[in-house]
Amino acid sequence: MTDASEVTLEAAGPENASLLANLLELYVHDLGEIFPVAIGADGRFGYEWLPLYWSEPGRRFPFLIRVRGQLAGFVLAMRGSPATDDPDDFDVAEFFVLRGHRRDGVGGHAAFLLWDRLPGRWIVRVSEANRAGLLFWRRTVDAFARGSFSETGRAGSPHGWRVFTLRSDGQGANALEVRGDDGHSCA
Ligand SMILES: CC(C)(COP(=O)(O)OP(=O)(O)OC[C@H]1O[C@@H](n2cnc3c(N)ncnc32)[C@H](O)[C@@H]1OP(=O)(O)O)[C@@H](O)C(=O)NCCC(=O)NCCS
Repeated sequence: MTDASEVTLEAAGPENASLLANLLELYVHDLGEIFPVAIGADGRFGYEWLPLYWSEPGRRFPFLIRVRGQLAGFVLAMRGSPATDDPDDFDVAEFFVLRGHRRDGVGGHAAFLLWDRLPGRWIVRVSEANRAGLLFWRRTVDAFARGSFSETGRAGSPHGWRVFTLRSDGQGANALEVRGDDGHSCA
């Protein structure tokens, strides 16, 4: 199991745009098992919102996940969630761990780092058809929030959504008792 101290969340700048675009191809392909995703004539799915992550500072937050310095995934987060009316809510837009790093605690550690980095109310939306994602978020949100979260349903097509709501105070204080003082352990 990867130790929390080995996982970093690195803010991604515009110089990382093509790297993120490449990882997004893998991510969208993975999600193609759940949603119908259309591939372009150039053999790429594309992700039209990526440039917004550098043109809307303060509202969009792109991160790379690294394990011992090696690329292991990415997170795209934003302020304003399609699931709520509060423009200050944070929302996990996209979250991806490379297959070679899965089931090793990397995603959990990265989520803890994300919520600690940006304090406030967080919304996580996951398709009911994304079984792995749903189990991952239910467990990870619960571990971070120590049970103080809500999970609600939301209609969607072709599948409904589960919507998790939790708070971060930026200190990880909610989970300090179980994590100890030396880092995170949500796995
Ligand atoms: C979902 C995802 C981010 C999980 O990342 P990860 O690094 O493998 O997650 P972790 O190792 O931290 O898992 C923590 C816990 O979540 C649950 N979990 C994670 N993946 C699971 C899976 N495939 N099946 C069942 N439970 C799973 C388990 O309880 C796991 O603990 P355990 O391994 O001790 O049983 C990763 O599988 C992924 O990138 N999937 C494709 C993209 C995606 O669906 N993103 C989420 C969109 S909402």
